[in-house]
Order: sequence, then structure tokens, then C-alpha cells
Amino acid sequence: MFEQKTAKVSNWKYLMGCVRGLRKRIVLSSMKKRLLLSFLCVLPLCLFNGWPRRFQALKAANLITFDDGNSGRNVTILLWYWPFRKAYSLRGDVCWDLYRIPRCRLVDQRSLFPSADVVVFHNVELAMRQQKLPLNLSRPQGQRWAWMSLEAPVHNGNLLQYANIFNMTITYRRDADIPIPYGELLPKEAEGHLVEEVPLNKSFLVCWVVSNFRSHHRRSKVYKELKATVPVTVYGRWTKRALRSNALLPTISRCYFYLAMENTATKDYVTEKLWRNAFQGGAVPVVLGPPLDDYKAVAPPNSFIHVDEFASVKDLGKYLQELAEDKKRYDEYFTWKHQWNVKLYTDWRQRLCKICTQYNSLPQEKVYSNLEAWVNANNS
Ligand SMILES: *[C@@H]1O[C@H](CO)[C@@H](O)[C@H](O)[C@H]1NC(C)=O
Ligand SMILES: *[C@@H]1O[C@H](CO)[C@@H](O)[C@H](O)[C@H]1NC(C)=O
Ligand SMILES: *[C@@H]1O[C@H](CO)[C@@H](O)[C@H](O)[C@H]1NC(C)=O
Ligand SMILES: *[C@@H]1O[C@H](CO)[C@@H](O)[C@H](O)[C@H]1NC(C)=O
Repeated sequence: MFEQKTAKVSNWKYLMGCVRGLRKRIVLSSMKKRLLLSFLCVLPLCLFNGWPRRFQALKAANLITFDDGNSGRNVTILLWYWPFRKAYSLRGDVCWDLYRIPRCRLVDQRSLFPSADVVVFHNVELAMRQQKLPLNLSRPQGQRWAWMSLEAPVHNGNLLQYANIFNMTITYRRDADIPIPYGELLPKEAEGHLVEEVPLNKSFLVCWVVSNFRSHHRRSKVYKELKATVPVTVYGRWTKRALRSNALLPTISRCYFYLAMENTATKDYVTEKLWRNAFQGGAVPVVLGPPLDDYKAVAPPNSFIHVDEFASVKDLGKYLQELAEDKKRYDEYFTWKHQWNVKLYTDWRQRLCKICTQYNSLPQEKVYSNLEAWVNANNS
């Protein structure tokens, strides 16, 4: 109920945003363009009736450029150092050139600190003590410091020292100030797209790619129990059957099911194991990680199978076997492809440019008084 309501409110806001955009921002001369834009504004509302939460994704994808109320002002995002020391080019107007995000100045020169609206710190380097926060610099009025991480909480190190420092969070969690998921589904823009055939050349029932096998992981127990019921084909460093990156998806496409099991079970932690390996590989994902509801929020019904939907792993095995033998029911696990495209996110520039699309909706004043507690909230 509650969700329905919030979805309606945000739909409404969205529509208003569109209308404002039509009125103010876009220089339009012809009626035709106007009609097209109105159509583009309304279309997603219809599409989203059945699955309102996906609305957020559309907004995030910036399919439609909002009037952000900046009236010509650039928002300056300063990346204090590059994640994993791998720098990307920031030449030109990157956010516009690559992602069609306007008025977003993405820089990495520390000398620009005084003019930065947001300064971003990637946690890995802080945790490894390769980088330090510039606590000796005085922050200009209104400047926000952002904590950015794609790691699960256990890998973030001790965050107690970062109380009362950061104003915003950038992470895969849906409730982050700037959510940066590993991937998401975006609505197909037009009807009548050719839907990829369900890959039919299947030789294996269940496949798993694992490099980091730890017997205490819950996924390892699930694997062992499942293997006792149905055949499971395992690739990856653990079994010395590592796959080259160009062999990964073709290999997975030969499997009916793919074990998209995360190494950590924590809120919203859904990685490329789902988005790339299973969805792009063309195998039905059997997921384990965050609770069922977290998956339901980001993937449509009948697109995945959660281990927790079964009373036992043995039951799960039986279900998979039956499904593989029933072509019609199996194919239903691919009907989502009529409406959705898989989008993977791998470029830090895209994540950083996204800050600008949400900059004006950030709370005026916000401080994470206990970042450690926020990061570890709702851990299962
Ligand atoms: C905004 O930033 C872009 C990219 O750095 C730059 O090309 C443009 O001239 C800037 N515009 C203003 C109004 O400062
Ligand atoms: C702040 O500290 C850094 C070293 O952590 C130093 O390089 C920099 O010059 C200092 N800046 C000021 C204004 O004190
Ligand atoms: C099915 O896969 C096998 C093994 O990769 C390959 O040799 C065969 O040509 C494929 N068949 C079709 C119809 O694609
Ligand atoms: C950012 O956090 C600092 C606390 O370190 C606070 O003084 C400042 O007002 C906050 N700024 C915003 C825009 O929330």
C-alpha cells in the first residue's frame, strides 16, 4: 500500500518535471517536437503502472533530462583521487558528451577544491590508508563531502573514525543519497523490438562460476546440498576451470540455470553475477544474497528464482529439474526481456555524473553522524 502511494507521488513530481522542462528548458519551435516530448513524458507513467518502483530507474538513467533548476550554473564534482588508481579521461564536457547530463563539471584537480560543490572520496583507498581526507582544509559554505563505495560492509574497514564528516553516500544501496547499482533493468524504448530468442542450445542444468570458495559462505553450503540433488557444473579459479572473459557468457548460455549467489548477504548487494552473468548470459538466475524483497525491488517477477523461496535446497533442485523439462514454463522466465534491457555500470565517470542529476534533490543540510551504523544497518 505504502509503496503504491509513494510511487504515485513521485510519478506526479515526475510529470511536473516534464511539464516544466517543456515550458522552460527546451528550445522548441515546432509543435511536432512538443507532441513527441509530451508522449515521452507520459509513456513511462503507463509502462510503470504494473511495476512502479522501476520509475526510479528511469529517472536515474536520465532518459529524460529534467529541468534541474540550476539556471545555467555548473555543478562541480571533484574526485579527490581515482578508485583503484585508474584514471579516466575528463577531457571536454564529459558528463554531457558521454551521458547527456548537462551542466556537470567533473574534475580531479585538487586545486579546484574551493569551487567544488561535491568532493568525492572512494573508500577502498581510505581503508587501505593509501589516501587521507584533507581534514586540514576548510570547507567552503555548502560544499558536500561524499563517501563512495561499491563494497559490501564487511570490506569497508572501520568507519567509526568517519563520524560527522560526510554529507552524502554514494553506494549500491537503494537508500543511498546517490544509488549506484552494479546494474539495472531499463525499459525498452519502443515496442516491436525483436526479442532475443531464449538460448536453446542448453547442455547443462545448473552452472556456477566461483573463484573465491570459502566453506563458511552460505552459498557453499547451498552448492553442496544442490549438487547432492542435481548436476551442477562449476567453472572458475576454485576448480581450476577459469573462464576467459570472452568465454564467460557463451559458456553460461549453455546452462538452464546460473547460480548468481553473492559472497555476502547484505541489503541490496546484487552484483554483476545477476546482471551480467545470468541475465546477459541467458540463463535463469538462482539467487542468494540479500532477502527476496530486495531482488523483487530491482528485477521483475518471473525473472529469477530465490533460494529462500524453497523449504529446502532439495526442493529447489527438484523444481529446477522440472522446469528444465517444461519448455513453456521455462520460457516464461524470459518474458521480461520483451520490456526490459539489462544495463551494466562499470565506468566511474557515469556514477559521478549521476550526482548532478540528483544534486537539487539533496537535503539542504545533512551529516552522517554515524557512518559505520548507517553502512551496517539492516545487515542480514
Ligand atoms: C560547465 O562545464 C563544462 C564542462 O567543464 C564547460 O564546458 C562549460 O563551459 C561550463 N559552463 C559554465 C556556464 O561554466
Ligand atoms: C593539508 O595537508 C596536506 C597533507 O595531508 C598537505 O599536503 C597540505 O598542504 C595541507 N594544506 C593546508 C592548507 O594546510
Ligand atoms: C550447440 O553448442 C555446441 C557446443 O558449443 C556447438 O558445437 C553446436 O554447434 C551448438 N548448436 C547450435 C545449434 O548452436
Ligand atoms: C557537511 O558536513 C559538515 C560536517 O562535517 C557540516 O558542517 C556541513 O554543514 C554539512 N554541509 C551540508 C551541505 O550538509
